[in-house]
Amino acid sequence: MASANLNIMIKAARKAGRSLVKDFREVENLQVSVKGAGDFVSRADHEAERIIKEELRGARPTYGWVGEETGSEAGEDPTRRWLVDPLDGTTNFLHGLPHWAVSIALEHKREIVAAVIFDPAKDELFSAEKGDGAFLNDTRLRVSGRRTMIESIFATGVPFGGARDLPATLRDLARLMPQTAGVRRWGSAALDMAYVAAGRFDGYWERGIKPWDIAAGILLVKEAGGFVEAIDPAQSAVDSGALIAANAQLFDGFARLIRET
Ligand code: IPD
Ligand code: CA
Repeated sequence: MASANLNIMIKAARKAGRSLVKDFREVENLQVSVKGAGDFVSRADHEAERIIKEELRGARPTYGWVGEETGSEAGEDPTRRWLVDPLDGTTNFLHGLPHWAVSIALEHKREIVAAVIFDPAKDELFSAEKGDGAFLNDTRLRVSGRRTMIESIFATGVPFGGARDLPATLRDLARLMPQTAGVRRWGSAALDMAYVAAGRFDGYWERGIKPWDIAAGILLVKEAGGFVEAIDPAQSAVDSGALIAANAQLFDGFARLIRET
């Protein structure tokens, strides 16, 4: 049984998802004007965050807020905050690629306790609560059972636009690719992590990532039986900006490779 908080999160994600799907249908018509499409997507993104904020803050006015578009706001309750990415996979959305998601996490005392990642284009709703397992729609999730790197697929995000993490990521790729069944760069960190939880990807790592991209995914992977740590193990996974996730069998070997970079 989902808690009241998880139900609030699901309602907000579905409502924002409906608005985004409507806008996604429009995007293709706008591709003639690249700038027009960019502005349109930015408005769609902001509108989705507005909808989520209205739902979540309406239901839980004392909780703090961290949203990709509207930034941070402290709440009266300093122990709880929402971490929200209204549209993860913005570049895919802009290009008419149906691979993007709404990501909502609830943190309590510095720990993620509830998570929703909703992919409206495929009608896939991933959810988790601490101690209660992870689900895709109504089906319980389990990370993959693959034991060797060479049979495993890993997802990542490659920085773009002159990002400072590019050289390290290229070194990761050079070391990892010959030892695995492949690396995927699909453009949504939230879905990358949801797919690790679902056993579709065997692992995920990324440098230069923000708390709202990964907060929900962290709980999903853990509740599906996987491991998640910051690349720098001394840091917290949510705030470190650099993360590794994998099934329990692969985690140590995979983490060793990434940490050597
Ligand atoms: C991005 C996506 C991408 C990841 C980037 C993120 P956005 O989020 O999650 O997969 O590689 O680091 O910024 O901009 O589409 O919300
Ligand atoms: Ca994002």
